[in-house]
Amino acid sequence: MDALKRQAAAHALREVESGMKLGLGTGSTAKHFVDLLGEKVRAGLKVVGVPTSEATRAQAEACGVPLTTLDEIDHLDLTVDGADEINPALDLIKGGGGALLREKIVASASDRMIVIADESKWVARLGRFPLPIEVIPFGLAATRHAIAAAFAKAGVSGQMDLRKSADGHVFVTDGGHWIVDVRLGEIEDPPRLAGLLSAIPGVVEHGLFIGLGSTAILAGAQGIRVIQ
Ligand code: 5RP
Repeated sequence: MDALKRQAAAHALREVESGMKLGLGTGSTAKHFVDLLGEKVRAGLKVVGVPTSEATRAQAEACGVPLTTLDEIDHLDLTVDGADEINPALDLIKGGGGALLREKIVASASDRMIVIADESKWVARLGRFPLPIEVIPFGLAATRHAIAAAFAKAGVSGQMDLRKSADGHVFVTDGGHWIVDVRLGEIEDPPRLAGLLSAIPGVVEHGLFIGLGSTAILAGAQGIRVIQ
């Protein structure tokens, strides 16, 4: 599986040209991309990157990829990131690694987003992977109540679990927020659910990425598949 992730990352690297401003994703697949990008940079490629997490920042710095921020620049040419699920409309579930907020800000600031993954992430319908919802700790019970109401309106339901770290403590995002993961099974209308969740004050962001992916590069046993 890791070899497939690296193949997808290597394929995406072909889209990178000197002078580009890049969004750098988070997760095990995006990690391969940053690693391979670092090799190119050390060989003379001139790019600048905006990392989507502190983990990616540390990796990119260690690889020698020059970094900037979306305070210093206001737009990116291309973001390359992984996903937890990808459907045929190239809508995504992201946030398994907890970086969904910065990932969405970076993808939204990019002309193009290439999603890299192994074939197991390709689904007919989103929802098998628990949907991450980043929430403000203040008023959590009220926010959960509002999320449940949004689910009812969208015709879905599922158990909400507050994400914990391996040490048993509540998982805290790079932005200082918490994450609620929800097992929905199947989301009939992802854009509608995305809109309903975005309207809840205690929800900082959710893992439905609607209309952001421009290309998916999927690596499988039969080779690479590119979907636009
Ligand atoms: C992190 C993400 C990741 O892109 C997603 O979880 C996929 O990760 P991996 O490449 O390790 O399967 O959204 O917030």
